[in-house]
Amino acid sequence: MVRFWHPVADMHAVSATGELVLDRAEGVHVWDESGKRYLDATAALWYCNVGYGRPEIADAAAAQLRRLPAYSHYGDLSSRPTTDLAERIAQIAPMDDAVVFFTSGGGEAVETAVKLVRRYWSLRGEPRRTIVVSRERAYHGLAGYGTSIVGTDTFTVGLGPLAGDTLRVPWDDADALAAAIDEAGPERVAAFFCEPIVGAGGVLLPPPGYLEAARRVCRERGVLFVADEVICGFGRVGDWFASTRFGLDPDLVTFAKGVTPASASRSGQRVPGSGHTGTRTRVTRPRRLPRTRTSTYSSASPYPHARRRSRRSLRRRWNRSRRIRWSRRCARGSVSLRRCRSCRRRSPTIRP
Ligand SMILES: Cc1ncc(COP(=O)(O)O)c(C=O)c1O
Repeated sequence: MVRFWHPVADMHAVSATGELVLDRAEGVHVWDESGKRYLDATAALWYCNVGYGRPEIADAAAAQLRRLPAYSHYGDLSSRPTTDLAERIAQIAPMDDAVVFFTSGGGEAVETAVKLVRRYWSLRGEPRRTIVVSRERAYHGLAGYGTSIVGTDTFTVGLGPLAGDTLRVPWDDADALAAAIDEAGPERVAAFFCEPIVGAGGVLLPPPGYLEAARRVCRERGVLFVADEVICGFGRVGDWFASTRFGLDPDLVTFAKGVTPASASRSGQRVPGSGHTGTRTRVTRPRRLPRTRTSTYSSASPYPHARRRSRRSLRRRWNRSRRIRWSRRCARGSVSLRRCRSCRRRSPTIRP
């Protein structure tokens, strides 16, 4: 009998075949207890963005564990790694003037995001906007709301009633999204949750034009656009976020893998002005930002924040060397200017 109940596993099969017990890791490889080496092609569960065995990360973690391992961040409490990390993430977030709310995982980021968007509308005097729209094949984690908006039945079988006021639309059809919102009544719809690239549902790239059209549909109807970047974020698609790559200008972003999980949203929320089709009006945010429901460990551990800060400086070094490689190729004329990542970076108007 295997005593450790594995997540997302057929435990009868695990009990029959036994567990694969991993022992150590280095670079892109992991070893099991018998010394067999494996190429970690999945980067654990898509979250080990910089490989294993980095002394900078281990040192940063150890130093912070000795200094201040964890503390509550409720009220006005913070720690330097947490405050600094929020600042850095805000700088690269795919929206202006972002604020960052840390959570304990992607599912909790989604949980928080659903509450934020509902609370947002209630503070803005539109409390009937409670419906959350998601897509077939979507995966937004398996906490309460995540399970309620998941796009695959596998995760909901036998659970009984889930959270109400949710709608599912096809994953690849912006007209169907528009029709679903119009049928429900835009004044009832709080937000559309969207993975820019469907991850767990099959790694599906968006059909050309889909994301832009879906974004337009939401904007025209005053529906908040939430980009779930738990898988796409932090460099996985060539930009810091898929939202930047696809020009999505989201109202809220959830992220987790490769960095401390969190949601980032605008501090001054921009909301489509009703009746201003296709345009947006900057409105002042509700006098107070919604007080977020949270958990004991929300943001509470400076130690992982310190670890992730160090990962981020590593990634900056990688990006720098990649840019140098590209500019050398560009100077040799072996790559067209349009495709040169180095030039593109210097001149943001050149897009692929
Ligand atoms: C798009 C997306 N959202 C949310 C989650 C949930 O993240 P976590 O497993 O950290 O709860 C995942 C996990 O893979 C994900 O792919």
